[in-house]
Amino acid sequence: MAAVDVPVALLGYGTVGAAVHRLLEESADEIERATGHRLRVTRALVRDTGKDRGFSPGPGVLTDDIQVILGDPSIQVVAEVMGGVEPAGSHVLELLRSGRPVVTANKQLVARRGTELFEAAAAGGVQLRFEASVCAAIPVIKVLRESLIVTNVHRVLGIVNGTTNFILSAMEEGRSYDDALAEAQRLGFAEADPTEDVGGLDAAAKTAILATVAFGSRVPLEWVEVEGIEGVTLDHVAAARALDMHVKLIGRATLVGDRVDVRVGPAFVDGHHPLAAVEGAFNAVMLHGDAIREITLEGPGAGGIETASAVVADMVSVVGTTGTGFLQNDPVWRHLERLPPGDLTSPFYLRLEVEDRAGVLARIAQELAAESVSVAQLVQQTADDRAVLHIVTHDAAAGRVNAALTAIRALPEARGEATAIPVISSRGVAELGWA
Ligand code: NAP
Ligand code: HSE
Repeated sequence: MAAVDVPVALLGYGTVGAAVHRLLEESADEIERATGHRLRVTRALVRDTGKDRGFSPGPGVLTDDIQVILGDPSIQVVAEVMGGVEPAGSHVLELLRSGRPVVTANKQLVARRGTELFEAAAAGGVQLRFEASVCAAIPVIKVLRESLIVTNVHRVLGIVNGTTNFILSAMEEGRSYDDALAEAQRLGFAEADPTEDVGGLDAAAKTAILATVAFGSRVPLEWVEVEGIEGVTLDHVAAARALDMHVKLIGRATLVGDRVDVRVGPAFVDGHHPLAAVEGAFNAVMLHGDAIREITLEGPGAGGIETASAVVADMVSVVGTTGTGFLQNDPVWRHLERLPPGDLTSPFYLRLEVEDRAGVLARIAQELAAESVSVAQLVQQTADDRAVLHIVTHDAAAGRVNAALTAIRALPEARGEATAIPVISSRGVAELGWA
């Protein structure tokens, strides 16, 4: 039987867009065998049609005029791989409202304008898929929406940014932060504006999307407590290694009763924990649920061809399920409130620099006790004219730890910076030991 010809368009023909075109051409026979459809890129929107591309688009494919795509009724699916909130958002809204299904790799767009986009998809009666917007090649959205449809997922924990994981892994090998960032940019992992990666905003958008899909309640980007890796020093990396831990940028979404906590920040991950072994630009997501206990998905979290694999899979799913009544509509079905950010509990690693004389440790202990922060491990090192205290606490509320740290910073005996970093360990902090 002859294959059905499916003209498709791309918004963007950069690292991901060119790889989507390449994968569609190289996998055309497999897609046809599986679905009976042959997806053919007929248009691609760019800014500069004269630029050299990673994969030749062919004559007449590139355009810098969105009207060429909006006005072409033959186009059946559009992949948005241009990035940015505008003009990508307006283009996607117009395509959806006019009945054109869209798949997108754009986490900022989905996280910031999800409500509007899904309303437009419903109005146009078409699908909006966004697998590639979270963890590139890892099919975590499909797993949450389809495989775990009857599972009450109550915690999502993940390494969801490839660039920062690449930098932190390189720092463990003694390489400098700036060197590692430059290489991540050269390899195509970093966002156009890499401060989105290192400042945690990229991971925040992905964690908000994961929380929204996992809990079925819209989690606005503003709810995410965000800290990037700019404050992580070689001292932190060395302290983590001495405690058999690794510094990772962790995205965490937790359902506490019927309230939601979502945060992104550096964490000390126990060497025995599954996330500790995730290196370089790889990502991993752990899903905790009633029936499943724990599932970990791991794979490439960035890169052109890796991301294209998820974009193409979404395009094929759209083509394969259109007209079947199976719509990937808005995953939101309820409204949950936000947990006050200071209420989430976890163990913490504290690094404090203080004057090295009698009574100082007692003052520190007093401030921690005043906030009910209990010490599980304590190591003191001497450095120049001061003592460096490495403390691992038992479970403590984030707000109480921050209050204790503020009080400690104000002590006349305090020297240098005082930092608190959450610890992720499933064997319990009492098991940790200083090497
Ligand atoms: P990129 O290499 O910078 O490519 C962006 C493409 O979009 C370029 O072809 C650019 O045109 C075009 N474009 C941008 N703004 C435009 C505008 N205003 N009008 C017309 N065309 C415009 O970016 P990328 O790395 O492929 O990323 C694309 C999207 O995928 C982003 O949302 C990103 O977050 C997401 N993503 C990327 C990765 C990754 O590893 N790279 C992984 C997962 C998700 P020109 O080529 O003419 O400049
Ligand atoms: N800049 C992103 C990262 C690309 O490094 O993870 C994948 O979304």
